[in-house]
Amino acid sequence: MSAALAGRRLLVSAGPTFEDIDPVRYLGNRSSGKMGFAIASVAAERGAEVTLVAGPVHLATPAGVHRIDVRSAAQMFDAVMGALPCDAYIGAAAVADFTPRAFAGSKLKKVAGTDTLTLELVKTRDILAEVAAHALRPALVVGFAAETDDVATYARGKLERKRVDLVCANRVGVGATGFESDDNALLVLGPGGFERALGPAAKTELAARLLELVAERLA
Ligand code: PMT
Repeated sequence: MSAALAGRRLLVSAGPTFEDIDPVRYLGNRSSGKMGFAIASVAAERGAEVTLVAGPVHLATPAGVHRIDVRSAAQMFDAVMGALPCDAYIGAAAVADFTPRAFAGSKLKKVAGTDTLTLELVKTRDILAEVAAHALRPALVVGFAAETDDVATYARGKLERKRVDLVCANRVGVGATGFESDDNALLVLGPGGFERALGPAAKTELAARLLELVAERLA
């Protein structure tokens, strides 16, 4: 196994976040964590010192990886910021964009005579954008973009808006790639019109190919 990332510190986020509504309900998403765990695993095999910030997933910790488990977007934010500095941050987590304004201490009840329930949501902090703007900004900041349509256009928008070095776009909501599956297809975008299509392939294979791009940029 090549040691292309020997001595490099990589920080990877993976999985969903769960935003609690009350003691029994939460807002979540379909991320299984497989994509981020594959990146952490392959990076450790290639000699990197890897910290993996994981949302609630059912996956074993890859060999040699330091894992920090979190539940909410706010906890993921704190864990990622607390793990800086590093050489590269790879944000593969599906972080909630919104969280309930208030946590209800007891289970929400149906109200007689009302057929609707209104939940007020507030924006979460954008971990990726804040890592990219941080005083301890890693040399390389890599984001993901989960899109249902117009993948390249929206992903290039994220690259520019969030001021990151690479964005890995993947289509979600169609076919057997993206969320939950063992396979995926990535369109990696970078500044100056850089574009590289990876896959469809197993997430471990895509992780290996993405980490080649990362290693080249850290060299
Ligand atoms: O976990 P799997 O089942 O293997 O599925 C993999 C995946 C589809 C979840 C993964 O490949 C992926 O696309 N992850 C990013 C999903 C996502 O939240 O995309 P986004 O377009 O909403 O966010 C763009 C980027 O901003 C992401 O790097 C995300 O981590 C980051 N972000 C978003 C919101 C927020 N509050 N903080 C963030 O850091």
